[in-house]
Amino acid sequence: MKRMIIGLPLTFLLATGCSKSNDYSPASGATAEDVFKTACIECHQPKEGGHYFELDKNMANATAIANKVSQGSFMMPAFPNIQGDSLQGLSEYVLSQNKAE
Ligand code: HEC
Repeated sequence: MKRMIIGLPLTFLLATGCSKSNDYSPASGATAEDVFKTACIECHQPKEGGHYFELDKNMANATAIANKVSQGSFMMPAFPNIQGDSLQGLSEYVLSQNKAE
């Protein structure tokens, strides 16, 4: 019995992870830039030179970016309602905003 009482909150923690989830959903017809400027810009401001990101090698591809948006991280909320074409377009937009090498 004691084990159940301890087990429940732990299960809850594991299921929700450390990061919060953001319930933002893209409006229909929103471009990737619209999505970025609505959902992301509060934390991702343009850097000197105008680009938003300086991505590490392992983050500089659309799949890694999409995973980041879907899953979030310790510091960044997950966006489970950005999906499909919106997620793909947003990931490509982020890539296009990566600092040119
Ligand atoms: C509440 C603040 C917050 C919001 C909103 C947010 N992010 Fe982040 N994001 C962060 C933080 C903090 C990091 C750095 C830590 C990390 O990598 O998890 C980060 C990291 C990233 C990274 C990894 C590369 C890097 O610069 O470290 C990408 C890509 C990214 N965010 C994309 C997005 C996109 C796209 C959105 C909008 C859908 C978004 N973020 C919304 C806080 C946020």
